[in-house]
Amino acid sequence: MHESSSVAELANRLRGELDRYSPGGKLPSSRALVDRFRVSPVTVSRALGQLAAEGLVVTRPGAGVFRAEPQTAAAPAGDTSWQEVSLSADTATELVPRAVDASGVLATLAAPPPGVIEFNGGYLHPSLQPERAMAAALARAGRRPGAWGRPPMDGLPELREWFARGIGGAITAAEVLITAGGQSALTTALRALAPPGTPVLVESPTYPGMLAIARAAGLRPVPVPVDVDGVRPQLLAAAFKATGARVFVCQPLFQNPTGAVLSAARRPEVLRIAREAGAFVVEDDFVRRLVHEDAGPLPRPLQSEDPDGVVVHVCSLTKATSPSFRVSALAARGPVLERLRAIQIVDHFFVPRPLQEAALELVGSPAWPRHLRQVAGELKDRRDAMAAALRLRLPELGLPHVPAGGYLLWLRLPDGTNEADLVGAALRAGVAVAPGRPYFAAEPTAAYLRLSFASVAGATEITEGVRRLRAACDEVWGSSGRGAG
Ligand SMILES: Cc1ncc(COP(=O)(O)O)c(C=O)c1O
Repeated sequence: MHESSSVAELANRLRGELDRYSPGGKLPSSRALVDRFRVSPVTVSRALGQLAAEGLVVTRPGAGVFRAEPQTAAAPAGDTSWQEVSLSADTATELVPRAVDASGVLATLAAPPPGVIEFNGGYLHPSLQPERAMAAALARAGRRPGAWGRPPMDGLPELREWFARGIGGAITAAEVLITAGGQSALTTALRALAPPGTPVLVESPTYPGMLAIARAAGLRPVPVPVDVDGVRPQLLAAAFKATGARVFVCQPLFQNPTGAVLSAARRPEVLRIAREAGAFVVEDDFVRRLVHEDAGPLPRPLQSEDPDGVVVHVCSLTKATSPSFRVSALAARGPVLERLRAIQIVDHFFVPRPLQEAALELVGSPAWPRHLRQVAGELKDRRDAMAAALRLRLPELGLPHVPAGGYLLWLRLPDGTNEADLVGAALRAGVAVAPGRPYFAAEPTAAYLRLSFASVAGATEITEGVRRLRAACDEVWGSSGRGAG
């Protein structure tokens, strides 16, 4: 039996038997439980740990495990309705009201209901994660001298060095700060660069989690369209002129959601336009390590071509590992680095040292390049399987671009398709997909779906997921008379 299910089963059995003991009474020894239930000592200790966490038993080291005394009655529920008024009152004085809304982020983080195929995930399926290498790295990290001590506030020097080498150009370890995942690095960057009430230029469409950060900080996201070559420079220049914005957030490589790569011709233009506007470019380099096997040479991070400190670079290890491997970097040069450092320390102190040590162990192990090579091959296969299944079964959907990196396909729906209806019908048919609407800071240009091919178990699940999506489209188009044919 799987370890976690045997823990749950044993915890259930013990829970059901607790009435046999009086409050404060002693439970049988761990040894006795091992013999009676024929499970390992680890399973017994984890099951008892679970009951202790539920407050049903207490453990006294050296004495044993005892049934807990009954709790005193819970306090009566109070009246929290005053909070509604309090939480809204401050917006009266704000130029751009802060709106804290996690729905855009949760769409890619929440686990789908059992049996539902996850085309809306934002991370690698567990079968693609380097679970053994991460576990080994964490174990080795825990044994490193000083692993539980306080790390240097900016991060472990060797880890900063590793990220700096990955960025390239003239960036040095001294210009890198270790942060807790891309989301937190983006939050720090936006808070450092744009005061509340000001505009921030964003690609359109773009990552809803970044729009959520901007709105929660009281910023006004202003969309600038992207095409297959990335953001459109003339429109970027016009947006800077019209808004006076001092920040542009950009994903030059395998943009979320379109998969676009900023073209070689546009890269210097974007830097020049931002420089002339006196603005920063926040470069969210979120999937550089999820390049596909058949990709050509990748463009370097934009920051490596920027000597003047225009670019604030964000990159994270989560996408190539696991959402829980929350280690990332913020890199910048010039006085802005001090601002970023101060905000990072005030808001977060530092990234837990064991995780930083584990990151160093992981990226320094022979398993790391092996893992990246394996993922590159798997992602290419899954991407091809999904694109082929979509072309065969859903030719009505527009697939303008098949990227050579990342984990996303961005599909245009036939005019008149109601995204929300389709997403609901898909879920009923057993496949979770992301609607396009949250990816637009303002009115969307059309209806879209975003599909992930990395968060599923493999090609068979992809084919089945597309079959279910076809059924959902038939249901929605059949009722509206659109799309089919
Ligand atoms: C474009 C983009 N940037 C940043 C992130 C944040 O990722 P993390 O905080 O796990 O590094 C995500 C997650 O989906 C993303 O899609």
